[in-house]
Amino acid sequence: MSFRPGPQHRRIVVLSGAGLSARTGLGTFRGPDGLWSLDPQLEEAMHASALPGSIPALWRVWGDMARVAAAHGPTPGHFAIARMGAQVITQNVDGLHQAAGSEDVAELHGSARRAVCLDPRCPWSAPLVPGEGDRAEDHGAPSACPVCGAPTRPDVVLFDEQLPAAAIDRALALTRAADLFVVVGSSGVVMPAAQLAPRARAAGATTVLVDIDPPREASRGGSFDHVLRGDAHEVLPDWERARRDVAANPFLDPFGGGRPAQM
Ligand code: APR
Repeated sequence: MSFRPGPQHRRIVVLSGAGLSARTGLGTFRGPDGLWSLDPQLEEAMHASALPGSIPALWRVWGDMARVAAAHGPTPGHFAIARMGAQVITQNVDGLHQAAGSEDVAELHGSARRAVCLDPRCPWSAPLVPGEGDRAEDHGAPSACPVCGAPTRPDVVLFDEQLPAAAIDRALALTRAADLFVVVGSSGVVMPAAQLAPRARAAGATTVLVDIDPPREASRGGSFDHVLRGDAHEVLPDWERARRDVAANPFLDPFGGGRPAQM
């Protein structure tokens, strides 16, 4: 019998990856059709060491991601997570959790919907307008920072760059508090996101991986109590329906535990 959250799971935390947004047309990063697998040079451009020459590629890649995500909107998986009242930690930069109604989303890798100054000490940032092209202006932002004149860039964390401290702090607090920690659509190769499930398990949470093609080591690695080979857009709505049924039929939950606890 495949795993389903029970009434005892009241503090559900979801860590999402590219697999949750793949069906919007965004695809994933790894695996046969992954963006980095298809274009390894593009992955090279995603390293901090490639700045500032990589800025046009950043606008093109992340600007495109924001445009495709905004055009498609959230998926059934995103809506199910929001309706279950689960707290969200995401590696995705597409803003689809927020568009589905999730609040206080911990965006570990930043956001493709925001521009910042290239100088990390400069406080300037501004929302972007989804567009197409490799210039800041194509996405509704100035190419020179209005505060210090340095180039601007999408607010997406590059490889070898620090993650946003506030997002990390929130992710660690949610990981400690969870009684059910669900990783959805992530290959688990990028740190520190991949360290969160084992941390949640060590803190007493039940941990579950939902992946259409889970990595073989997932069921051996000790990070997960349950590994579900399945499509996030089928598994999560099924969970949400089951929780809704329990909430609608209290006799299915004699101990009255079905509502998510405040975190
Ligand atoms: N349902 C469930 N899982 C899916 C689905 C689906 N419909 N479609 C794809 N997947 C799974 C794939 O099997 C794969 O394991 O999603 C995973 C996507 O893995 P990656 O492409 O490695 O994406 P992710 O883990 O999010 O990457 C982490 O790496 O490139 C950086 O910053 C980027 O945030 C990204 C980080």
